[in-house]
Amino acid sequence: MNVKNIANAVGLSLPGQSQRLTGMNVAITGAAQGIGRAIALRLASEGANITISDLNLDGAEKVAEEVMALGRSALAVRSDVTVASDCDNLVSISAEHFGRLDMLVCNAGFIQVKPFLDITPDDLDRLLSVNVKGVYFSVQAGARQMLRQTPLGPGRPKGKIVTMSSIAARYGAGPMAPFTAPYRASKAAVVSITQSAAYSFAPDITVNAICPGLVETDMWKTMDKQMAALKKQPEGELWKQRVSAVPMGRGQTPEDVAGLASYLASTDADYMTGQSINIEGGLTMS
Ligand SMILES: NC(=O)c1ccc[n+]([C@@H]2O[C@H](COP(=O)([O-])OP(=O)(O)OC[C@H]3O[C@@H](n4cnc5c(N)ncnc54)[C@H](O)[C@@H]3O)[C@@H](O)[C@H]2O)c1
Repeated sequence: MNVKNIANAVGLSLPGQSQRLTGMNVAITGAAQGIGRAIALRLASEGANITISDLNLDGAEKVAEEVMALGRSALAVRSDVTVASDCDNLVSISAEHFGRLDMLVCNAGFIQVKPFLDITPDDLDRLLSVNVKGVYFSVQAGARQMLRQTPLGPGRPKGKIVTMSSIAARYGAGPMAPFTAPYRASKAAVVSITQSAAYSFAPDITVNAICPGLVETDMWKTMDKQMAALKKQPEGELWKQRVSAVPMGRGQTPEDVAGLASYLASTDADYMTGQSINIEGGLTMS
């Protein structure tokens, strides 16, 4: 075991590693992998205890073990964001276990690649259930809990909610546009829900959306595969094409997104609410 591992195993801070989230209790939906997992590990590395929730309980448990290896407390909960009572249960289990819920990250989502005219009513229902109703139910559950709590500190909000939108919410052009219409609509709805919730719950709760760009996760790999089949092009081609347009010169890592979540959790972001923040390497600059 090297020095870094020893320090992490007992929850000590290393020189240069911020511990600004010490004692915060955070729940994250869709956190068994990808962006949700990276947020869990980043916030835990800065001192937060984490409730990892997902449809995939095995995956959530593995991430909980990774959080515990950082010296923090973790809870894994199977929860389906399309079911309002699951969202309520997730919040009450987390708040009961850790005493309160300081931050909720509504991250669970999925994408379907299909031409605009081929989308069926069932396709639309399935996607909007996860990406729109799932976020709405989660925000409701989180806000009900947070409104009952005392502030995070003097002059601070009672809690923080972060939603996961996308540059797809406000960028209409590009090769993906004709094949991801319901996804784009769902992410625009997330921006709107975020604004309504921020206005409804200010000054008690801040609500902000993160809009990532091209993040190399299973979601992107699936999308790339489906586009390759549709456009009869080699797998990986779409990713290569899209990344070549990113001014920062590379695809996005889940850790790039987690850094913004860490800022939103911190006191530095206490005055920010109702915002939808792009983090996309300059791809859209919108
Ligand atoms: N990957 C990207 O390029 C990208 C870009 C912009 C926004 N996003 C958004 O970021 C979020 C995370 O994406 P990712 O790339 O990490 O995807 P991912 O597919 O790697 O992970 C999504 C997680 O959500 C879970 N999930 C799906 N449906 C669920 C449900 N009904 N209830 C609970 N959990 C459920 C999955 O099991 C999975 O663990 C999504 O909302 C996505 O739309 C991703």
